Amino acid sequence: MKVLLVNGSPRSEGNTSKLIKLAAETLESEGIETEIVQVGGTMIRGCLSCYRCVELKDRQCSTKNDNFNAIFNKMLEADGMILASPTYFADITPELKALIDRSGFVSRVNGNLFRHKAGAAVVSLRRGGGIHAFDSINHLFQISCMFMVGSTYWNLGFGGREGNEVEKDNEGLENMRDLGKSMAFLLKKLHGC
Ligand SMILES: Cc1cc2nc3c(=O)[nH]c(=O)nc-3n(C[C@H](O)[C@H](O)[C@H](O)COP(=O)(O)O)c2cc1C
Repeated sequence: MKVLLVNGSPRSEGNTSKLIKLAAETLESEGIETEIVQVGGTMIRGCLSCYRCVELKDRQCSTKNDNFNAIFNKMLEADGMILASPTYFADITPELKALIDRSGFVSRVNGNLFRHKAGAAVVSLRRGGGIHAFDSINHLFQISCMFMVGSTYWNLGFGGREGNEVEKDNEGLENMRDLGKSMAFLLKKLHGC
């Protein structure tokens, strides 16, 4: 079993990264394979609304000059996915939104390829707006017949400009351990382990 963790922050070693690394470590300690991919700060494009995916139904996006299809294939292979973002003006980063829009569309037009996978949102924030960002990610899971995984105080961690402040948010770190344990629990039940 495998969980793909996507970092939507352009800071590959910032607060968001520290949160998902902790969730990944917990999953690994439960015997679940993990892979972290970087989408924040990449040149991933938004959906062009060309509807070629609807015509071709070839499990790909027709925009092929960026990293989308490579990440999408990893999402398809994984049993679970954790999509993470810093809060930007009370929402997620444009790179993660581009991944959500395109992966959600290609999944749906090919017969709901994400059906029965586990999904979780992780959000870092400095002060406010994190729940709205959290909701933005969860919308993908709720329209894709997926199972959402939470923790003990949503899946949020607080950190600011330095990019490592989240390490002082003990409750946020505990949320990530809880999230990793809960996702491992769900995946084992789903796969009869
Ligand atoms: C463009 C921009 C907008 C931001 N907007 C918010 C916001 O609305 N609410 C908030 O609490 N923090 C906001 N922040 C702070 C980050 O969400 C926060 O520091 C986060 O932990 C950064 O994660 P990172 O280190 O992984 O990049 C913003 C930061 C940037 C650069």
